[in-house]
Amino acid sequence: MNMLWKNSLSDTRHEQSVIICYTGTGNSLQVALALKERLGGDVVSAADLTRGDCRLEHDGIVGIVCPVHFYGLPVTIVDLLSRISFINGTPEIFLVLTCGTFTSRADSEAERLLGSRNLKLDYVFSVKMPENYTPLFRVPPQDKIDELLSGVDGKAEEIASIIRKRSRGNHNSNKGPGFMTGIARGYFIRGRKTSKFRLNSKCTGCGLCARICPADAIEIKDGRAAWVKDRCDLCLACLHRCPFWAIERGRLTRRKRYVNPVLDESR
Ligand SMILES: Cc1cc2nc3c(=O)[nH]c(=O)nc-3n(C[C@H](O)[C@H](O)[C@H](O)COP(=O)(O)O)c2cc1C
Ligand code: SF4
Ligand code: SF4
Repeated sequence: MNMLWKNSLSDTRHEQSVIICYTGTGNSLQVALALKERLGGDVVSAADLTRGDCRLEHDGIVGIVCPVHFYGLPVTIVDLLSRISFINGTPEIFLVLTCGTFTSRADSEAERLLGSRNLKLDYVFSVKMPENYTPLFRVPPQDKIDELLSGVDGKAEEIASIIRKRSRGNHNSNKGPGFMTGIARGYFIRGRKTSKFRLNSKCTGCGLCARICPADAIEIKDGRAAWVKDRCDLCLACLHRCPFWAIERGRLTRRKRYVNPVLDESR
């Protein structure tokens, strides 16, 4: 298994966590790393797990940290939860959703998928983070981004303390109206088409987008990025993280890109 960020802290807890992280622009990774500092263990990539057989060894606690996509779970997380299995018994499982506004029933979707594998979702949390769905919404102003990002450590402390106390339950404080999940599904299915991406003349063929794409939907062809699948996760990692702003998806996406500072490419 690919350990993204091996724990370097000595931890006095008997159990350590395995935190499965899926991220487009780094928000969920910031939360996952803040939790790793408090719960110990490793952060592993959800995309890497789904490239394999989704079997996981753990030490008692497994967390899933991912963004909300169209009031539901990212496609890769749906795939992961539909196939996940554990080598050494059933762990306690927690879910942390990062969102720009609210989660709607993304948490119930996770519960249902795990339930179909006879697994229980023991804890649910959500953390509000900067919005990255720029085909429709604006990235918040910098002072708002700073405020949200500086709140992550406090929120992680709260989550870790609830898990340590074994206060199982749904602690999602950003649920909002549940009906949005059903309404948004149709838009998401149509929105996932990669034909909606445009590559402008600034592409240098550096390959970053192809390396980070969780859906393996991009390759470099003739020195430029090219989408090789009809549909993708729509995580927007390629659009936001391209160093040259070469990827667009409609007029509104030209305004601004967003990358959480935790995403330093040297990691
Ligand atoms: C395709 C897509 C759909 C999104 N849908 C929602 C949503 O339904 N509700 C919400 O609050 N935020 C939504 N967002 C915003 C992200 O959930 C939020 O910015 C998240 O923190 C991004 O995490 P990441 O940086 O780890 O990818 C959406 C983002 C994308 C890319
Ligand atoms: S689109 Fe951007 S990240 Fe992708 S290859 Fe071109 S320059 Fe690099
Ligand atoms: S093509 Fe871009 S938006 Fe789609 S999954 Fe890959 S990185 Fe994410």
